[in-house]
Amino acid sequence: MLKTLALVGLSAFATQAADEIVGGPMVVNVTSTAATVVWVVKTGQATIGTTAGAADRSAPALREENANFTGLKPATTYYYDVNGSPEGKGSFKTAPAANEPFDFVVFGDTRTRHDMHRRIVAALLKSGKPDFVLHTGDLVENGLDTAQWPMFFGIERELLRQTVFFPSLGNHERNNRQFYEFFQVGANPYYSFNWGKSHFIVLNSDIGSAGADSLAKETFWTQQRHWLEEDLAKNQQAQFRFVIAHHPPITAVSRRQGGNPEMTALIPLFEKYKLTAGFFGHDHNYQHYLKNGIHYVVTGGGGAPLYDVDKPAEGITIKAVSTEHFVKIHVEAGVMKVTAIALDGSILDEFEIK
Ligand SMILES: [Fe+2]
Repeated sequence: MLKTLALVGLSAFATQAADEIVGGPMVVNVTSTAATVVWVVKTGQATIGTTAGAADRSAPALREENANFTGLKPATTYYYDVNGSPEGKGSFKTAPAANEPFDFVVFGDTRTRHDMHRRIVAALLKSGKPDFVLHTGDLVENGLDTAQWPMFFGIERELLRQTVFFPSLGNHERNNRQFYEFFQVGANPYYSFNWGKSHFIVLNSDIGSAGADSLAKETFWTQQRHWLEEDLAKNQQAQFRFVIAHHPPITAVSRRQGGNPEMTALIPLFEKYKLTAGFFGHDHNYQHYLKNGIHYVVTGGGGAPLYDVDKPAEGITIKAVSTEHFVKIHVEAGVMKVTAIALDGSILDEFEIK
């Protein structure tokens, strides 16, 4: 009997230890009435090395878990608790159904320099808690490397547990299935959502990883382009329309100019359907353009090694600066105020759209 009890106790302990939360909790796919709480657990690990018995690397086995909630109240703060553990607690606010003020943050390219990523998250939190965060992609250096995800989630933990997260897929995610699982983005990682009277469209601009051959890549992009046009046409009544994607249609990084022709080719579509602003990443700096009434912002200063802004386009460039930063947006009474903030809290750029 004693032996049986000891075994039961041991197995309960083993299950608890194996299910350590290493990602989140975070809240995704939030609307004015629904939300999905997601957390990632470590179920085991493998080590590796070039000498038998002397491993120098390890990677966890990860499993995503989630819980959906419907019938929520708009513009309401909810507090959640995953598995009743202190590390499973968090809060978020549902989207407003009407024209209420809200704040969001856009930042991205958080890969590679973990210390800088950590400092950006700290600066971001110091500036106040946003209602939601849009990530412009390249969350990690290599999405296929399992060990990099707990690193990302560890750095973002305090941010993710007190806001709502909407990521876009970067080329460094390598189109890995875990991105789809962790952030519950569905079969296609492009989607749109409403927050108050604003409409947000998140694209997957990583065409390079979207198919095995050029035909598959072309088919993917054609389908997404059609979806984008339909979505923009359907949301012409929105107060503001935003597009978020990893690859920028315009860049001041000379060696990368002309590098994203498919994104550049979307500009006439953005103009036809009166986009308010586009937010992009991929180039690790801050860039702001105003072209035919549309603001284009490159915000890739979340930690990845900086790139020079050596060739800003004449006539449309408002600001181009190579430094770590994030972008805060406040929307209230038909006015959106955009502020790009550097690591030390100083303001890099500020503008309003009515
Ligand atoms: Fe990138």
